[in-house]
Amino acid sequence: MAEDLNRRNFLKAAALAAGPAIGTARGANDKINIGWIGVGTRGYAALEWLHTAAPNDVRITAICDTYQGYIARALDRMQTVWGNKPATYVDYHQLLADKSIDAVYIMTPEHLHHDMTIAALRAGKHVYIEKPLAHTIEEGFDIVNEWKKSGKIVQVGTQNRSSSLYKKAKELIGQGMVGDVHFARAFWYRNGLPNEPSWRYAIPPDANPQNTDWERFLGTAPQRDWDPHRYFQWRLYWDYSGGISTDLLVHQTDIVNFMLGKTTPRSCMSSGGIYRWTARTDDRDVPDCLSAIYDYSDKFQINYSCYLGNEYFGYGEEICGNEGTIRVMNRQDLYFEPETYNSRRPGAADRAPANIQARQAIHLNGRADFNESDGAINHFRNFIQAILGKEQVIAPPTVGQQAAISGHMATLSYKNQKKIVWDDSSDKYHFV
Ligand SMILES: NC(=O)c1ccc[n+]([C@@H]2O[C@H](COP(=O)([O-])OP(=O)(O)OC[C@H]3O[C@@H](n4cnc5c(N)ncnc54)[C@H](O)[C@@H]3O)[C@@H](O)[C@H]2O)c1
Repeated sequence: MAEDLNRRNFLKAAALAAGPAIGTARGANDKINIGWIGVGTRGYAALEWLHTAAPNDVRITAICDTYQGYIARALDRMQTVWGNKPATYVDYHQLLADKSIDAVYIMTPEHLHHDMTIAALRAGKHVYIEKPLAHTIEEGFDIVNEWKKSGKIVQVGTQNRSSSLYKKAKELIGQGMVGDVHFARAFWYRNGLPNEPSWRYAIPPDANPQNTDWERFLGTAPQRDWDPHRYFQWRLYWDYSGGISTDLLVHQTDIVNFMLGKTTPRSCMSSGGIYRWTARTDDRDVPDCLSAIYDYSDKFQINYSCYLGNEYFGYGEEICGNEGTIRVMNRQDLYFEPETYNSRRPGAADRAPANIQARQAIHLNGRADFNESDGAINHFRNFIQAILGKEQVIAPPTVGQQAAISGHMATLSYKNQKKIVWDDSSDKYHFV
């Protein structure tokens, strides 16, 4: 983990992440009590992943959500997967007031992360907070500061860091397989049928202001009348989301940083727009096409692109070294190929020096070689092991904030139509 943090932050993080974090009064057979905030798409699926990750170390004793339909659905799932019926809450403060809860999972929309994480830390809970760490750069630093004071374990949901495939890629890069690296490409391309606009997720037909707590959903976001589109499709609106930047891009700049031992970029220039999902009835704020160029202070660039209107090239990160390329595609396939210095002309001789020619091409598959569909289950296990004092979290808030800063820089550059520059010494940005 040390290489992913600058030394100053690492020393602080290491001191804070050290265990054992569970109170000593706890008996050997006691499990960690988990409170679960947000059982929507991610939160619902993840109830089962935690069972796979740590069935003997934890139990989920409480869930909280502001839509009754999702609470009912989660209770059903809990009965099937875990065999117990947790207490239920609509107000997360009430869940946090339960002193028997040791840790919380927060799987709510982005604009709620700040207040929920800070309240959870102040209530003495360990926290798993989904990415992005927070809705703004400033809010992210608030969380980092609160965490440093708290002595609690916090894992940010950038789960690629726990994927064996990406760890392998990092190892190969560290061994010098691709030589020096000054350039990486990352991309995420998706599409939907004309009647399935991107991120227009289905709104449960029964959802209404009586069974959905609109005020609690809004939190500190601007007041508005009940709007089920905003509630269930919050990713499309700036009030609650950074769109592509904080929903998708953060995963990818983060994992490039992880593979290459980098932190925050020096600058970002991004550009895009709403090009594909332009129906008159579609009131989305966030672009469906975004490209972002990041430059780092140590002669390195990430070329990022995302388009939600064609999926042909899928998802990937490509580390383009002077001596070879490592690609991780669709979080499932890792490819290494050495350079041949022949402009890839068919039949042209491999002009690489012998030491590079000797490097065998590699293909690894996440499921076949590591029995993993992605890093999420490992990431959950790492969080629980850290609470038990047996490991350190791989994505503490310092790292989650670095990931989020890249995302916010892309949003800020897009909105302001200017290049944004990050100053690591002052933790501030400016536009040029
Ligand atoms: N790590 C990943 O790969 C990954 C993947 C998907 C989503 N996510 C993240 O997970 C989070 C949730 O995303 P999602 O797709 O599940 O969204 P979602 O809209 O499906 O679920 C959000 C849930 O939060 C609930 N909620 C809203 N306000 C609340 C409040 N005040 N108190 C309690 N519950 C409240 C909603 O009712 C809903 O059930 C986001 O931060 C998202 O970025 C991460």
